[in-house]
Amino acid sequence: MRLSLRYRLALLFFGINLVAIGALYLYVAPGLQTRLVNDTLSELAAHARTDSGPIIRTIGSAEPVSVLRTRVDAAALASRERVTVLVVSYALGAPQLSPEADSSKPGATPPLRFPIAYRAVSAGAPRTGTEGMRGATVAEAASPVRYQGRTGSVIVYSTSVSDIVRSVAVVRHEILVAGGIALILALLGGYLLTRALGRRVKRLERAAEQVAAGDFEHPIRIDSGDELGQLAVAFNEMQRQLGQLESARKNFIATASHELRTPIFSLGGFVELLEEEDLDPDTRRRFLEQVKQQVERLRKLSVDLLDLSRLEAGSLELRPELVDLAELTRAVSGEFEPTLVQHDAHLELRLAGRRIEALCDPVRLAQIMRILIDNALTHTPPGTRILVTAGQTDGHARLAVRDDGEGIDPVAVPRIFEPFYTADDAQGSGLGLAIASELAERMAGRLSVRSEPGETTFMLEIPA
Ligand SMILES: Nc1ncnc2c1ncn2[C@@H]1O[C@H](COP(=O)(O)OP(=O)(O)OP(=O)(O)O)[C@@H](O)[C@H]1O
Ligand SMILES: [Mg+2]
Repeated sequence: MRLSLRYRLALLFFGINLVAIGALYLYVAPGLQTRLVNDTLSELAAHARTDSGPIIRTIGSAEPVSVLRTRVDAAALASRERVTVLVVSYALGAPQLSPEADSSKPGATPPLRFPIAYRAVSAGAPRTGTEGMRGATVAEAASPVRYQGRTGSVIVYSTSVSDIVRSVAVVRHEILVAGGIALILALLGGYLLTRALGRRVKRLERAAEQVAAGDFEHPIRIDSGDELGQLAVAFNEMQRQLGQLESARKNFIATASHELRTPIFSLGGFVELLEEEDLDPDTRRRFLEQVKQQVERLRKLSVDLLDLSRLEAGSLELRPELVDLAELTRAVSGEFEPTLVQHDAHLELRLAGRRIEALCDPVRLAQIMRILIDNALTHTPPGTRILVTAGQTDGHARLAVRDDGEGIDPVAVPRIFEPFYTADDAQGSGLGLAIASELAERMAGRLSVRSEPGETTFMLEIPA
């Protein structure tokens, strides 16, 4: 059976209380009684040791019994305890004790059997202990007196400890009553407290279920600043972020499908136009050129979308190796020669050293370079001068692509690394920089931008 947290906590409260009360009842109270009785016994033993001199001197002397009785009474008066002198007789083999003098009048106190005195005789040394008699408890200290070579008498100091026993019994009873009440309160209090906690946890659980079902609109009410309240705050924050992620995801899909639809529709249109038979060869060639462009746009878009989704899912694998940045930059710049001619642009390479080494994935590094050089060409007017520099300082390889175009609108700068964000009318889909910055991050590096009219620089830094 699985007990709910509420019952488990209530039972725990109950259990702790039960153990505390049990310890008080079974250990502390009896311990108190033992201590008090032991104190009395030591006091009796001390009196027996120090005050019984006159009695000892009378025993075995020629003085009459009446003198002994007077001394016994005097000793009892001085110590306020009962003093009894017992004579030991060995007539039946085992020693037998019979009272010779007793400070207590017959019938005034319960008759005692003096088991402690017997123990003192057989040990031949003083003994202390208690004796129970008709519901009363008596503490006794017996000290043997030797004469004529053996124990002839025993002096017993005794006093009732029934008061102690009764008081401790009352205390134990009170512990039981108070403990019982405390147990009921603990059970009830524990139950109520955990029920209130349970309700708040349940509220969190329901909210989690709502989030799981896709509802990001309803935050939990924060009703206190305690741990559960803080959990609710954290939960609401998580819900808000999940809501943002969800809307970003929906946005992404909507934008991606829109981006895909545009070239597909355009392709469909051109294919229909091409089906017409009376097209002159020139128009047909123009249309085919358009078809080629749209197919190229679709190809780039699908590759970019795949790269970006892999990067965001963390499933794009990098293959780092020792790369010569100078050589790679030269190769990638070379690829752009035809486009440079088309744009009437000029590209200058400035490499700090013949070899610039860095440990990275050369394919992905080339991809970043292509994205940056492509942007410097497509988002600038014809005749742009592009400067590509590569170098290495304090453990970092740096690659910068600078152009002298019109620059990026300062309002747009913080957003250009977002997927699908475009800041001008060029026909890009806005994925280039999103991919480049994700790739830079995966390489433990960083892509940054500085732009003003006439000078825009993208800088890539990666650990060398
Ligand atoms: N060198 C640059 N000069 C001016 N604007 C730039 C430059 N590089 C990027 N931008 C701006 O940043 C935006 C985002 O660039 P990004 O490369 O991500 O997308 P894109 O070039 O529009 O499309 P894609 O690269 O996916 O074909 C661009 O639309 C452009 O407005
Ligand atoms: Mg681009």
